[in-house]
Amino acid sequence: MKIQSVKGAVDILPEDIGLWHFIENKTREMFESFGFQEIRTPIFEKTELFSRSVGEGTDIVSKEMYSFEDKGDKSLTLRPELTASVVRAYLQHGLSVKEPFQKLYYIGPMFRRERPQAGRQRQFHQVGVETLGGSAPGLDAEVIALAARFFNSIGLGDIRIVLNSVGMPQSREKYIELLKESLLKEKETLCQDCHVRLEKNVLRVLDCKVATCQPVIEKAPQILDHIDDESLAHFEKVKACLDQLNIKYEINPRLVRGLDYYTRTVFEISHSALGAQDAIGAGGRYDVLIGNMGGPKELGATGFALGIERIILALKNKQKVVERISPFVTFVSLGEEAWTKNYELLFQLRDQGIYAEMEMGDKSLKSQMRSADKNQANYVVVLGTEELAQKEVPIKNLKTGEQEKVALDKVEDYLMQKYKEAN
Ligand code: HAM
Repeated sequence: MKIQSVKGAVDILPEDIGLWHFIENKTREMFESFGFQEIRTPIFEKTELFSRSVGEGTDIVSKEMYSFEDKGDKSLTLRPELTASVVRAYLQHGLSVKEPFQKLYYIGPMFRRERPQAGRQRQFHQVGVETLGGSAPGLDAEVIALAARFFNSIGLGDIRIVLNSVGMPQSREKYIELLKESLLKEKETLCQDCHVRLEKNVLRVLDCKVATCQPVIEKAPQILDHIDDESLAHFEKVKACLDQLNIKYEINPRLVRGLDYYTRTVFEISHSALGAQDAIGAGGRYDVLIGNMGGPKELGATGFALGIERIILALKNKQKVVERISPFVTFVSLGEEAWTKNYELLFQLRDQGIYAEMEMGDKSLKSQMRSADKNQANYVVVLGTEELAQKEVPIKNLKTGEQEKVALDKVEDYLMQKYKEAN
């Protein structure tokens, strides 16, 4: 039997790689233009890093982590997200002391043992940013603005941004008590999953999609009415910054997010071209995580992560055709001598960083022209014995149909010039 990939771990084939490069390139371009610098951390970490930051009671830690025993009984985990790893690296390398204000971004694979479906995988990829060492509301609005601009730049400007504030831990604790009290009054109406949530992580009840739970949830107290005054003022300022930047958002007082480290601002970004898994990105502020992980207590932080698979799904569903890699020039050869000359030209252009192709085997003129067309080359150079004798070769622009005769020793210069003009 042929060996297949692991369930939920997906190959990215060449037909899609253009989309991946497009998103990765845009990420670097946009994130760096906002002053973020890339950080790369290991794929696996000590398990306690995630259980202590993301939280024992969360779905990620309690059900979804790929954890394994290393030699010497150390439990290691494939990273389910990167905020915790970034904070660990920030503290481990003394950045919190040397230069506490850091703007970092990342691109890479994450691992969660979820039930696979369209847009939900067990190995998936995120791009994300973390602004560490700052508590100002302008920073929350800055990362949201970056996400909005990023989506705009890739043709997904029609995202929906949903915002809420979960306050600081003390006010949240009090709110959780109130919420539990209210939900317990109608426990019988709630679904079985919510019964478990009532015990383990009451806030998750607010996320429940089961119809019979909705009237109970609607009647329950809302977190925004119970957060501390400072957090409320912070939230007002975040909204004012977003208004100033003309960024559209909605407030959802039920949005609490599934990770324990959040304080104050939380947000989710969704897109209508996705199905059930419509969260294309999410993030928020985490002002106590650096302190809880052994760093200075006063250092706040905020950030987001976007799911690349979901971005690609949305682009495909919207039928946005994104750059496909096509050769700039294709060489067509008639006869052995022409083939040898073309082979030389091919590598001269490649050495200049231009993507050039040619048929390596023995194919008819018709078949070579057909593949030049199919590969959507910009230019085609057709070289035969006659052209070699006259030391002049026709170069055709396949996009406009125009053709020019170029001296054989000027082919490289000519194509280089055209390449510069096109880029
Ligand atoms: P998260 O909401 O768990 O947040 O994940 C962020 C995004 O990753 C989701 O909105 C979704 O697009 C994508 N994603 C999550 N799970 C999967 C999956 N199984 N398959 C495909 N895509 C998925 C975080 O990870 C936080 N670290 C975000 C953050 C950064 N908060 C502050 N800074």
